[in-house]
Amino acid sequence: MANPIDDAKLDAAALAKQLGNPTGEIGKAVVDRLNNSNATNYAAALRRMQIENGARVLEIGFGNGHEIANVLSLADGVQYCGIEISETMVGEATTRLASDIASSRVMLHLGSSAALPYGDAVFDRVLALNTIYFWPDPRVDLKEIRRVLRSSGRAVLGAVAPWSTEGRDVFRHGFGLYDERQLSAMLMEAGFDTVSVDMITETVQMASGPWTRDYFIICAE
Ligand SMILES: C[S@@+](CC[C@H](N)C(=O)[O-])C[C@H]1O[C@@H](n2cnc3c(N)ncnc32)[C@H](O)[C@@H]1O
Repeated sequence: MANPIDDAKLDAAALAKQLGNPTGEIGKAVVDRLNNSNATNYAAALRRMQIENGARVLEIGFGNGHEIANVLSLADGVQYCGIEISETMVGEATTRLASDIASSRVMLHLGSSAALPYGDAVFDRVLALNTIYFWPDPRVDLKEIRRVLRSSGRAVLGAVAPWSTEGRDVFRHGFGLYDERQLSAMLMEAGFDTVSVDMITETVQMASGPWTRDYFIICAE
């Protein structure tokens, strides 16, 4: 069915705002499009999760929850916890994951990565794709991620390479963009011991047409 909300008509500033905190029907439409354009980088990130049965996973910025089933399928008995600053997205994902929430396999919370409402060392993996752009000082959020991870835990992050955003106005509206060196430095400062950054090149379909971009998959332990 055609998307009844024409989010393709948003100007760059309005689109950036919706990407950082999707709100209302237009926010839902924007994130529906992301589900397609971010499928490749999610698949690459999930390959780097390497989790064992019964692992506890936290995702920051899960959007409408489209990828949660894929996270759950990575191993038996995965416990998924997600945190989102968007009420609209928490609502969308709550509807989508109703049965897994009822069985306590999935827990979703409204909140921010800057102050994670979890104890120390409670997760085996933390996943955050396309979300670091919106953290005013990522060192704060990365320290929080390190705090909630077990010592044997791993963070898997995903972000577009800064040079791939040239000529794309939306990224000029408040996005934090970081190269490999900056990402590694911030993660080491946050307390991680080892950081690896892989780059994939992918062509994704945007409302404005195809976009070939370099994309970082970052693993920190
Ligand atoms: C661009 S969307 C990406 C959604 C999904 N991860 C993906 O890659 O398709 C960014 C999401 O992160 C959420 N977000 C932004 N800052 C956040 C924060 N500090 N803590 C939790 N969620 C955040 C937004 O509400 C939005 O749903």
